[in-house]
Amino acid sequence: MRSQIEDLEVKKQVEQLFAATAPGLEGVCAAELTALGMAGVKAVAGGVEFCGALRELYLANLWLRTASRVVVRFSELRCRDFPTLYRKALQLPWGRYVKPGTRLQVRATCRRSRLQHTERIAETLQKAMTRALGATTPEENGPTQLLIVSLEDDLCRLSFDSSGELLHRRGYRQDVGAAPLRETLAAGILMLLGWQGDQPLFDPMCGSGTFLIEGALLALKRPPGAGREFAFMGWPHYRQGLWKALLLEAAKQGRDVCPILTGADRDADVLDAARRNAQRAGVAEYLSLQPLELSQQTSSPSAPGLALSNPPYGARLGRGELDDIYRGLGRVYRQVLPGWQRAFLCPEPRLAKTVGLPLAQTAHLQNGGIRVGLFAVK
Ligand SMILES: C[S@@+](CC[C@H](N)C(=O)[O-])C[C@H]1O[C@@H](n2cnc3c(N)ncnc32)[C@H](O)[C@@H]1O
Repeated sequence: MRSQIEDLEVKKQVEQLFAATAPGLEGVCAAELTALGMAGVKAVAGGVEFCGALRELYLANLWLRTASRVVVRFSELRCRDFPTLYRKALQLPWGRYVKPGTRLQVRATCRRSRLQHTERIAETLQKAMTRALGATTPEENGPTQLLIVSLEDDLCRLSFDSSGELLHRRGYRQDVGAAPLRETLAAGILMLLGWQGDQPLFDPMCGSGTFLIEGALLALKRPPGAGREFAFMGWPHYRQGLWKALLLEAAKQGRDVCPILTGADRDADVLDAARRNAQRAGVAEYLSLQPLELSQQTSSPSAPGLALSNPPYGARLGRGELDDIYRGLGRVYRQVLPGWQRAFLCPEPRLAKTVGLPLAQTAHLQNGGIRVGLFAVK
């Protein structure tokens, strides 16, 4: 039985933490962490460094809208051979993060290092951890824990994933259209455009409604992670009372005022999916969804606000049809929404120009492995 004193020490122990993000979202994620009151916030390529104890780790998982996962920096080991890796790994305080019998899922990358064999690195770390915890083998159907290993210039950095399923999996989106945006990317784009939930939002090609649902969660100040499980809940020192207290605090911060959030799409089935997603997210009452072709959009859906869209990129369409869609979007932005802030995602500057409006590329992002620009009408 672990002691209460040990529990308290773990609770207060300040760790180096890292919120991993998709490319281009580092800055908005750093702003989120700063707003949460975190210390040592520093955006770097691929994510944001910060520090904190259990409370901060739980808060980050609960509230971050733009991070893919949150990891705890566990240790750094200098090693040039496997016996050294094993010997040093044996000394680490594994029991802070894993229970005996846990199976490690090791994700390793190696650069400019003697040790290159990622499977053997994984085996060595699993063996050292199992022995350090006094077990003999991982249990057949026991828990698994992701350990991220990065070896660079013979320095082996170990990080424990605290999130489990990636953070874009909020739990509400079970119905999707053809090419849905990740929830983290949708929230990040709203933040990159400075939308804070006090102006109307319109997506003229809304698909399964990700911009609108993320917009509603943002406007209502609802934490995106409130309804799901996290890897840290399986750790030996999980503080369920602390987690519940953070959920209660979060519920008190919520608002019940939301601007008008309108979506349109030519595909009625995908709008049904958007409705079901919005219901699961608890925001259906704030969304207005219209089955309209771009060419049928002739009047502004509300007072001006932000118009934002993720049009098709062309994988399943011919060039002519694709150009027509972007021209159609340009017409809606120019004729129907002249007083609005207007933006859209597009994989190619040439295609983006088809909208026929003066544009500025405000961010370089990636959607499902495809490089895309965020273009704003000047
Ligand atoms: C890439 S998907 C949008 C995905 C959406 N952001 C999401 O997260 O689910 C593009 C959407 O544009 C819609 N669309 C394509 N051409 C259209 C047109 N001419 N008028 C209206 N909607 C159109 C498609 O039905 C599709 O749902």
